[in-house]
Order: sequence, then structure tokens, then C-alpha cells
Amino acid sequence: MCGIVGYVGNRSVVDILLDGLEQLEYRGYDSSGIAVMCSDDIKVYKAVGKLQNLREELRGHESEFTASKMGIGHIRWATHGAPTVLNAHPHTCTCGNLVIVHNGIIENYKELREKLSAQGCVFRSQTDTETVAHLVARKYAECKDLTQAVRLASEEIEGAYALCVMHNDCKNKLVITKRNAPLLIGIGEGEYFAASDVPAIIKHTKKAIYLSDNQIASLTPDSMELFSKEGEKIEPKVEILPWEPVALSKMGYKHFMLKEIHEQPDVIRNILVGRLHTPDENIILNEVKLNKETLKNLNRIQIIACGTSLHAAMIGKYIIESFCGIAVDVEASSEYIYRKTVTDEHTLVIGVSQSGETADTLTAIKQSKARGSHILIITNRPDSAMAREADSLIPVNAGIEVSVAATKSYIAQLMAFYLLALYMSEIKDSIAASTLTSLKAELMILPQKIEQILARKDEIQAVARYYANTKDFIYIARGINFPTALEGALKLKEISYINATGYPAGELKHGPIAMLDETMPVLSILMNGSVYEKLLSNSEEAKARNARMIALTNSKDEKLEDLFEHIIRVPDVQELFSPIISIIPLQLLAYYIAEFLGKDVDQPRNLAKSVTVE
Ligand code: AGP
Repeated sequence: MCGIVGYVGNRSVVDILLDGLEQLEYRGYDSSGIAVMCSDDIKVYKAVGKLQNLREELRGHESEFTASKMGIGHIRWATHGAPTVLNAHPHTCTCGNLVIVHNGIIENYKELREKLSAQGCVFRSQTDTETVAHLVARKYAECKDLTQAVRLASEEIEGAYALCVMHNDCKNKLVITKRNAPLLIGIGEGEYFAASDVPAIIKHTKKAIYLSDNQIASLTPDSMELFSKEGEKIEPKVEILPWEPVALSKMGYKHFMLKEIHEQPDVIRNILVGRLHTPDENIILNEVKLNKETLKNLNRIQIIACGTSLHAAMIGKYIIESFCGIAVDVEASSEYIYRKTVTDEHTLVIGVSQSGETADTLTAIKQSKARGSHILIITNRPDSAMAREADSLIPVNAGIEVSVAATKSYIAQLMAFYLLALYMSEIKDSIAASTLTSLKAELMILPQKIEQILARKDEIQAVARYYANTKDFIYIARGINFPTALEGALKLKEISYINATGYPAGELKHGPIAMLDETMPVLSILMNGSVYEKLLSNSEEAKARNARMIALTNSKDEKLEDLFEHIIRVPDVQELFSPIISIIPLQLLAYYIAEFLGKDVDQPRNLAKSVTVE
């Protein structure tokens, strides 16, 4: 995680850096800092916590940096060392002449630190990053060329990094490099920008260069040179970013999360545009580049993802297996990458990621690609690192998701799976035509059903108030809604810090039931369909242990009134589409509990929106 920015040009640098960091705050908010080149010396300013604290720290110092035209900035998600001022970036070498900001993890930092300490470097922080500051400074002392020093240092660094470096000797030169972490250069008139992500620069320019791994760039106000890791000059590939600057607004909602929950009906409508026109027509999914013959004979799919995207992937498995009869494995990316996986050119590998930058998923995708698998990426960021690895790319078009807790991107990912599964089933001829038509018709009316739930959000808010002071929460479900239970629990724990867990209801009696007593809320996702009666029995078992029972249901079953203390009702829907409907009240429940508890809903503690470290 972490976000970095850099600027060299003719404008006053501090506002550019702060604006850029604000756009990157989704990448972390443990601390922030900037270093600016002033006429006499580099000046460094840092603060713990959100960017606002850095703005306050800078107040009163304006005269020190108003003339400054070059600088680097950082927003931190702590990996090595607590979120303190000393551990905040930028980090400096022993004499303070060189400063550096870093996103990533230096894996061999302990060895480097020992070596550099023995050579006389004085370490002030507990971070892995500081070793790079000392290492580059030592290389610079030998070669007196900052670009060359960064290149030589990178030969000794193991791990992932995006780096921006400045040195007091080079008053208008910024050197940047990257490996397995995102970094791009924005090209302006007499100015260059460096940033971890597009939003930090899009206000200033649409011309950009995405740095490839191990490339090094040297930037001055009127020149840019790009080098390979061997030090050879390379011709940069300039791209025009397909982005418009967007003013991110809560549109009257108290939090971005609530706004994004309300955007979900439109997210579904958007993803259907151009892909599903009427229930009688075939799905159009030109993004899938596998030829029809290969798709027809496909017998194995692997889906890789993390967090909320993993829950979408788990539902994707149900959908694809039900619609197409193809065996699907789902795995957390972080588990996938460190074992001997059976993946080859006959496997379709699907990577799912809102950000398209999640380090574990990116590594997993690269591994599968190297084994010859066709890579299909489902992402909200078609300009991301993962999208660049894709053989087939399904952009989900959910729009920028600001809240760290994913909501609308999850719904969009589910929709991508429905479209993909329906598309493949049409090619494989695995579903009767009349059934296909009714499935597509239902898919098209899901937005109205979500709107009906949103219109009654006050009822969910009332339930939320009732349970807000609980310490634990259990969600149970079966079948296609088991991942919904996991996702509902994840939403609650990440924004309210309540210990919430999702279980397949049939597993309760194999252990978790021991936790039940009159203090434990158990929310049963009781949707009409093949497992309804089974789940009802499991709910009875929980009730018999005095648990506080809540139902989320589309059933009209009268006996529910006796069994459950609270019932959250949702519109009826075919079982296969029920995850789209059942997650909405769970997002709202988590939101209202966190809001009632006064938590920082959009930026929960310890989290970041884009997880670019393993
Ligand atoms: C979702 O609410 C989480 N903040 C988190 O689990 C997230 O889904 C996960 O980090 C994966 O991110 P990605 O979709 O961008 O790959």
C-alpha cells in the first residue's frame, strides 16, 4: 500500500503534492509527509494520522517553501514500524542530503541494515525504507550521479518498491523507479509528475507513461530520460489517460459508503448496457477473447481473489457451475501463490479485483500466465496492473469507489459473473432456451428490487441500533448465500470492529454452536430455494441455545415470526440471483451499526483501499 507523489516543474510544489496525496489517501492514512527542495536545503515535514494533520503541521511554515518547485510526498500504510513521526516518510540518509519515499516492502532490509550500520549509517526509524535511503546515498557518494546511484542500489534490493528520490546536490532532478508496485509519470508543460495512481495527476495532465518493472526515470522541468535496469536509454511509451478529473462528492450522503450502497441499482444497469438488451437476445461479451470452440470444451476454471472480491468469486463458482456445468476452484490469492498449483494452458484463470492492484492477486495472475493459462480479469480499474496482464478483460464500470469497505464493486463483480456464466451457457448450450430467457429477464429487474430495499432502509437502521452494542455477531447461510454470510460479516467487522463471523449453517453443530447463548446475535440468510428448509432447521437449533435470532428473508412463511426476534424482509427473487438482493441489507446493517458507534466508516482503522503489499 502507501501512495507516493513527486513533482518537478515551475509551479509552487506543496499544494500539488498535498492535492496528489489527498487523491491517494485510499492507499493508507497512518501518516503522511513531504520533502521539498528549498534554495538552501531539502526540508521535510511529517505528521501521524490523516493528511489533514500534515496540512496543520505545515501551517506557519509557508515562507520556507513557497518558492520551492520540486518535491516528493508520501501517504503511509504501516508495514515495518508503528505509525509514528519517526517512521513516517520521507526518509533521509545519515547526513540528510538524500530523501526518499517508498511504496512496497524491502524484503532484505535486515541484511542491508546490518551492512549499512556497520559502514557507519545512522538509522533513525524502524522502517525497511530507510535502508534504501542509506543505500542510495552510499552509491551516490561513489558515483556522484543520482540516476546511476538509484540503478546500482536497486540491484541490491529484494522485494517490491516504487521510489522517488531527491538529493541536495541535484536541485531540479527527481529520480524514480519501480518493481512490482505501481508508478506512473505525468507529462505537463515544463513539468513532470510521478504518482502511484492516476487520480493524483489527472487534474494536471492526461499524458502519462506507466513505468515497467526495473525502469528508472530521471526527471527535470524540461527533460525526461528513461533507462533500463542495465542503464541503457529507452524510448518511453506515452499514453493518453482515458480519465476525466472527477470531483469526488458524497452527494449529500453522510459517508461515501452510504452513497455507494445507493449507487448499486445504477451499477447493475451500467454493466448491462451493451451486453444484455432484451431477455430474448444473446448476451454480448466481446471482452472474452477465448474462441467459442475452446469455451465449449473448457472443463476447468480457477478463480483467484482477496477479501470482498474473493466472496464474489465464491458466488461466481456457484453461478458458473450451475449455469455451465464447468468445475470451478476458488482460492485466496495469498494461498494460491505459495503452493504447487495445478494450473496449465487448459485452465481458464479468472482474477477478480476492484483495484486491479492487489499484490497477492497480481502475483497469482502472473504465475498462472507463465504456466500458459488464459487470464480473464474482472476489475473496476481497466487501467490497472492486473488489466495489463489480461488476455480477456471485463471492466465492471462501477465508478470510483472511495469507501474502503467495498459495496458497489462487489455487486458489479457479481454481475460480471452472471453475464459470463450466461454467455458461456449460451455457447455450451447448457441451459434450456426458456430458462435462459427467464434468467435474463430476472437479471434485468434486479435494480428495481434493490431500490425497494433501499426505500425501506429505516427498518434496517432500527435493527442496527438494537444490536449495535453487541461484541460478537454470527451470520449463517447455506448454498449460494454462504459467501453472502462471509461478506456480511466482513462488512461489519471492517467498519465497526465487532467480531463477526460467517458460517455455513450446517457447520454450526460441528463447533461454533458452543458459542451460542442469550448474548449472541445470529443472523440467518433465509432465502427461498433448495436449502430453505435445511437452514430453517439450523436456525431452530440456534434458537434452542437461546441465541438472539434475526432473519433476512424473502419468505412469507408465518412460522418465522415465532422463531425470529427481528425479520428483515426483501423482495422475492430466484435463488440463483438471491446474493444480489441479500447483501444489500447486510451492507446497510454494517453501515448503520458503525455509524451509530461513531466509527470512521469510510476510512476504518488499519485498512487501505488498495493492498499493494503481500
Ligand atoms: C473490502 O471491503 C475490503 N476492503 C477488502 O477485503 C478488499 O476487497 C480486498 O483488499 C481486495 O481488494 P481488490 O478487490 O482491490 O483486489
